[in-house]
Amino acid sequence: MVGRWWSRPSRQEALPVGGSPQATGVRSVAAGGDIGVVVTGDGNNVYQVAAPPRVASSDYRYQVESLAATEFHGRHDELAAMAAFSVAPGDVDTGVHAYWRWLAPAWAGKTALMAAFVLAPPPEVDVVSFFITSRLNRQNDRTAFCEVVHRQFYALLGEEEPAVTEHTREESLLAAMARTAALCKRRGRRLVLVVDGLDEDRGVLAGPDSHSIAALLPRSPSHGMRVIVAGRPHPPVPDDVPASHSLRESLIDRWLTPSSFAAAVRREAEDSLLRMLNAGGLARALLGLVTAAGGGLTAADLATLAGTRSRLVELELSTVTGAPSGFGHLIGLPARLVAGLRAYTCWPTRRSSGALLIS
Ligand SMILES: Nc1ncnc2c1ncn2[C@@H]1O[C@H](COP(=O)(O)OP(=O)(O)OP(=O)(O)O)[C@@H](O)[C@H]1O
Ligand SMILES: [Mg+2]
Repeated sequence: MVGRWWSRPSRQEALPVGGSPQATGVRSVAAGGDIGVVVTGDGNNVYQVAAPPRVASSDYRYQVESLAATEFHGRHDELAAMAAFSVAPGDVDTGVHAYWRWLAPAWAGKTALMAAFVLAPPPEVDVVSFFITSRLNRQNDRTAFCEVVHRQFYALLGEEEPAVTEHTREESLLAAMARTAALCKRRGRRLVLVVDGLDEDRGVLAGPDSHSIAALLPRSPSHGMRVIVAGRPHPPVPDDVPASHSLRESLIDRWLTPSSFAAAVRREAEDSLLRMLNAGGLARALLGLVTAAGGGLTAADLATLAGTRSRLVELELSTVTGAPSGFGHLIGLPARLVAGLRAYTCWPTRRSSGALLIS
């Protein structure tokens, strides 16, 4: 009995955590479960019921599914290599042996591969993941990383997620990471942290103002934890990653051969992109808006910005891109096309390609 209560002297009852009071008086009401406070009517007592802990749960899998290839093909060797690395025996608690980094240019199929691994990890592995991307709304900085990954750790811990502030979230994340790794180890399992798209981190700046996701990754993962990251070879490791960090070691690098399936998707995307550019009018304007925003816009957002209706935006995108019906495809494809356009070019040209599109 850990509930607390106040009452008239004549009647005193304690309630268990999450207990439900009985309302017995005139005009009385009762409520219970995990709401925390209960007030009943005339002739009843006033209780404060201790709320039971709300165990954290994560729905991040849905985000991963939205980034995964519609139909994933091949990559058996790569997935097997990732699995072998994840479950390799021994605590390699120091440095480079706990890290694996896929490097490949744009459109090679890194995200598709990482998503395939996260959605079907080896049976003895618990995966926590984050995909740094502008294809999804506000999923490309340290704040998003902390929030998303923190919740996944607490879901694995089976505990209520503590409230954090912008000043405490990073320390809380690191503590949760170490505790989760230790718990997995005690259970005879292995914690693997998967982070895709290190090159897409918006928090990376030149110099001391950089606050990258990479710098939050543990220098020496504890309790046998492994870390698998992926990204393009450029830009280089952010300035705020310490000199002694494993991410600065080329020993962790594995070069990913571009997928022929990804190449086919890329050709299709290029054709769609050209169609949108040639179509002019609303299609071209939409492409410009998506480029300028860097992704994450809904049909309603685009409609507002373009001064038109959402339905027209959806129709335009489905017509010009030939995208299959479905909201996700309508909005996701142009964003991916723009990502593709950026991918061809080096940085200075990327900017000018965006300017060209909205001009
Ligand atoms: N093995 C595969 N089977 C089927 N489709 C794939 C495969 N690999 C990649 N694709 C598709 O090819 C496209 C490009 O792949 P992906 O986004 O994974 O590339 P990337 O290397 O992550 O590129 P970027 O550097 O721009 O992030 C996506 O539409 C993806 O779904
Ligand atoms: Mg990617």
